[in-house]
Amino acid sequence: MTMTSAASGGTFALTPSTTVNRIGFGAMQLAGPGVFGPPTDRSRASRVLRRAVELGIDHVDTSDFYGPWVVNELIAEALYPYDENLVIATKIGAYRDHQGGWLPLTHPEALKAQVHDNLRRLRRESLDLVYLRFMGSETGDVLAERLGALVELREAGLIRSIGLSHVSPEQFEQARSITEIAAVQNLYNLVNRSAAELLDRTAELGIAFVPFFPLGSGFTSSRAREDRTLRRVAEQHGVSQSRISLAWLLRRSANILVIPGTSTPEHLEDNTAAGQVELSEAEADELTGLVAEGRTLEAVE
Ligand SMILES: NC(=O)c1ccc[n+]([C@@H]2O[C@H](COP(=O)([O-])OP(=O)(O)OC[C@H]3O[C@@H](n4cnc5c(N)ncnc54)[C@H](OP(=O)(O)O)[C@@H]3O)[C@@H](O)[C@H]2O)c1
Repeated sequence: MTMTSAASGGTFALTPSTTVNRIGFGAMQLAGPGVFGPPTDRSRASRVLRRAVELGIDHVDTSDFYGPWVVNELIAEALYPYDENLVIATKIGAYRDHQGGWLPLTHPEALKAQVHDNLRRLRRESLDLVYLRFMGSETGDVLAERLGALVELREAGLIRSIGLSHVSPEQFEQARSITEIAAVQNLYNLVNRSAAELLDRTAELGIAFVPFFPLGSGFTSSRAREDRTLRRVAEQHGVSQSRISLAWLLRRSANILVIPGTSTPEHLEDNTAAGQVELSEAEADELTGLVAEGRTLEAVE
């Protein structure tokens, strides 16, 4: 029997000095319902994090938004002192209101404060990768000013790499003309290919593309789960549909790093085994053909 290991999905050089396994872990689901408040089972959340590291996961995606604060605190509690190879990616640019709403918080001083908050909660001296999470279509001086705050902190050694999240192709190109961008994190999965242009552009540039909601998320019932093709391919391989969805992403482009989210050790184990799935050319083509690149499943119905 093959042992489950994140290494089975291959590796990607996030920067010339930092290589990660392409199978990572998205920690958002460790917060309470609606990504708000503490987890329903705190010890299970800690077990998920510890097991992730045991399985070779060396790229954990988080944010102070999750909980808020809860997930970063859990990560520090479960994993500190950290393995020296562990890359923790976080996001700034928003905050949660008392009802759990997600609101922009983007003044350069507020962005700097969020970096310091993440450092403190994660008990890190520097943050490996910080995504500026876009909440709107801002470009020009506004974008330059916000990014400038992160560049300053990178020069001060508090951030190692800068990423962009929920970013348009235009915003990405402007940001890239200002400073080096290590990763883009946008929505992309088997049923939502709206970010295809950016995915292909980042591939061309050798920049990591980290799809959020790689499984279509638990927020909405995943249309892919109900799809007969996905179900059939999963049955042919005798594995879960989640694992097939991740295997398809890993095959879609060599610069994709997957960060499936889960609150259970069982699903973590399942997702981490995605690198062991070998889709045939025909299966991959059929899954790719479910939705046109640049479109979503809803849009083609
Ligand atoms: N940049 C952004 O704006 C942004 C937005 C959203 C998310 N993110 C990041 O992306 C990561 C992934 O997103 P996500 O967690 O929301 O969505 P996801 O990975 O697409 O899906 C997570 C959902 O799938 C379920 N699931 C996971 N593994 C499964 C399996 N093997 N079998 C059956 N169900 C399974 C989970 O439930 P269980 O808990 O029951 O496993 C959860 O409901 C997040 O953790 C976060 O780090 C970023």
